[in-house]
Amino acid sequence: MTEPPHLAAIRESYDTVADAYARRVPAPAGLDPVSRAMLAAFAELVRPLGPVADLGCGPGKVTAHLAALGVQVFGVDLSPRMVALARAAHPELRFTAGSMTALDIATGELGGVLAYYSTHHTPPRHLPAVFAEIHRTLAPGGVLMLAGHVGEGEHLRPAGAYGGHPVSYESYLLPPDRIAGLLAEAGLEVRTRMVREPEGTSTRRSGTFLAYRPGG
Ligand SMILES: C[S@@+](CC[C@H](N)C(=O)[O-])C[C@H]1O[C@@H](n2cnc3c(N)ncnc32)[C@H](O)[C@@H]1O
Repeated sequence: MTEPPHLAAIRESYDTVADAYARRVPAPAGLDPVSRAMLAAFAELVRPLGPVADLGCGPGKVTAHLAALGVQVFGVDLSPRMVALARAAHPELRFTAGSMTALDIATGELGGVLAYYSTHHTPPRHLPAVFAEIHRTLAPGGVLMLAGHVGEGEHLRPAGAYGGHPVSYESYLLPPDRIAGLLAEAGLEVRTRMVREPEGTSTRRSGTFLAYRPGG
């Protein structure tokens, strides 16, 4: 199958910034209390349900945080450099290169999926395919936690990131209702949604969604 063109831009950009990203972005222990509480809640929900995929895991810091909370978790990322950094930092965990648009994961295999600040580079017209993959790979009763930037539909084309490194990816900040609507259209039942205003070092609104594959 032909790869959607936005994936090459994301892969190349994150390969370029991976080392700077890993140095600059704090591990979850350094996150604010609300972010940590949401990750802890997700961990508690999925711990008894089976394997969890951290999609767009980056350097694996959040993957390792979930593992430390007792979750059977592995990471998938589009950027081979991110995967290499994750493996080097957390050799006890499994990280593979791959895309959330076409996962090498069996149907119904997962108790949970985490997409942590990893879906905003996907053009909105491709999000239904991503959410369909998440629905396909979750077992009935399995839980998705999606967290990330939200907005009013802004389309950003940054020239540089993480200290000015050149990037060619784009970002799409969708309204929370639109994200929830796309999740529902994929057959996922959105039971929790939380929107946070910019605070502290964060300059953007963010949203966290807990969505379930019905059944189980
Ligand atoms: C902002 S980083 C977040 C990394 C990690 N989740 C964290 O919180 O530190 C976004 C990551 O998502 C990955 N990503 C974006 N689109 C992806 C896709 N279609 N499939 C897999 N990974 C993807 C990027 O390669 C990048 O590592």
